Amino acid sequence: MQQHILVTGGAGYIGAHTLVELINAGYRVTAIDTLERSEFRIIEGVERIISKKIDFHQIDCLDAVALNSVFERNTFSSVIHFAAYKSVNESVEKPLRYYKNNVGSLMTLLEVMKRNKIRDLIFSSSCTVYGQPDQIPVDESAPFKKAESPYGQTKQICEQILENVISEGFRIVSLRYFNPIGAHPSAEIGELPIGSPNNLVPYVTQTAAGVREKLVVFGNDYDTPDGSCIRDFIHVSDVAIAHVKALEFLINRTEASLFDAFNLGTGVGVSVLELVNKFIQVTGMKLPYIIGPRRPGDVEKVFANPQRINQAFGWRTKYTLEESLLHAWNWEKKIRNR
Ligand code: UFG
Repeated sequence: MQQHILVTGGAGYIGAHTLVELINAGYRVTAIDTLERSEFRIIEGVERIISKKIDFHQIDCLDAVALNSVFERNTFSSVIHFAAYKSVNESVEKPLRYYKNNVGSLMTLLEVMKRNKIRDLIFSSSCTVYGQPDQIPVDESAPFKKAESPYGQTKQICEQILENVISEGFRIVSLRYFNPIGAHPSAEIGELPIGSPNNLVPYVTQTAAGVREKLVVFGNDYDTPDGSCIRDFIHVSDVAIAHVKALEFLINRTEASLFDAFNLGTGVGVSVLELVNKFIQVTGMKLPYIIGPRRPGDVEKVFANPQRINQAFGWRTKYTLEESLLHAWNWEKKIRNR
């Protein structure tokens, strides 16, 4: 029987790319999103890629009644929970809002899942749970250090909740994302940053497009080969495909309850300056940038040891850094021309 998957935050950056990969893999999907931080045109972009309509509902995961009615009208086999706020800066200014939305929506979702006897869940976590790890590449056994922001704290709290609730029969996979970048190769969907982007790649593409005057590289005095921070940049479609693999992993497991967390990264560390130069090289665009002071809260370097996810899911990244940057640029051009 065709498995039916509920995707929360389905209009978001990773959620939308995952809808595409789920449908390509033969799953039936229902997507929900508040559209508070995305737009319906992202769902329309998904529909153009897959040449099908998406069963979409504008619903907030904090709204237990609305959420429950979606569960009562469908028979889901699993849920992929993307819906959350993700701005580190904003979480420092509005911690209450972040705890309420990110932790509250997970609690509501778990209660509604339990009421409807749905046990399988894939959760969007982040490498931020590790803080600055002692060992790099970081593997899943690394301890949670003190979170750098309320946003990071919400991811740590959510993982702790998930680990506890398995005693109520849940089967959970948590995916700890490193730095998702890029856009779908078709340029039909990609990231829609709100206001001035906080993240590196949207800032790079907006600068190249002339929307921003110049990029500021936050620090070149770190203890790294070129002095800039090192991250593990991964194509968003590779991240999306990993969710399909995570579902297969859950389906094939026979345990009545489980919690497992996996790093979702490439395993390759790339510096900010390397990425900037690669972008200039692959796009041929001018990218004015200056070196500025360090950004408070940034970790010096972090990249994944992806061995566990590679082995357990039979998953490897498909896209290169060059392709990721080119796809990000193609998407930026597309949204500028609309
Ligand atoms: N950077 C710049 N200039 C910019 C933006 C970013 O130099 O204009 C640098 C940052 O200092 C950092 C690197 O680019 O060294 C990557 O920064 P991002 O903001 O793109 O990504 P982060 O690694 O800071 O953020 C990621 C995830 C978050 C998560 C965070 C934890 O996007 O979800 O890691 O630190 F919370």
